[in-house]
Amino acid sequence: MSEIKPELLFPRETIAGRVRELAEQISGDYQGRELLLVGILNGAFIFMADLIRAMSIPCRVDFVRAASYGSGSESSGHIKITKELETPITGRDVLIVEDIIDTGLTLSRLVGVFGERQPASVRVCAFLDKSGRRRVPFTADYVGFTIPDRFVVGYGLDFNENYRFLPDVCILKDIA
Ligand code: IMP
Repeated sequence: MSEIKPELLFPRETIAGRVRELAEQISGDYQGRELLLVGILNGAFIFMADLIRAMSIPCRVDFVRAASYGSGSESSGHIKITKELETPITGRDVLIVEDIIDTGLTLSRLVGVFGERQPASVRVCAFLDKSGRRRVPFTADYVGFTIPDRFVVGYGLDFNENYRFLPDVCILKDIA
């Protein structure tokens, strides 16, 4: 039986530097406004915690959870919100914070659902982007790193709920 050995992709120092750059860019873009950061559970919690502490504008937070339903490990394309926002977003500037964009299905659905609630704006900040894997066209407004089609863990990202706690982003060698 082969053992899974995570291989270092982005060390914590590289992540911290990029998160500071993103926070600076976002703070500049929303100068004079108040932002609602909406984290997608569970994966975004570490990225969001670091991002918000590096922002220089007032921010509020809320969270949603989205699940893809259907059978098998591949996304069925149907996304259901299993934990709703607790904040009304009408008239607010909303920034959805996601750990990684893969097929694009989750975010295109969430942006659509939130857009119907008449927010002042909805944008997306993704820590990682596997841009080669899209099943629907989707472009995030802010991206930490674009990565190749490999399965990554750490910094909030999991494999079967394992490895989320790793401070670095690693590639799971045996699961490409
Ligand atoms: P999608 O863009 O709708 O396909 O879904 C993105 C979600 O798939 C992310 O929020 C993760 O939960 C999960 N995901 C996709 N690729 C990876 C990966 O490489 N590592 C960990 N989770 C991943």
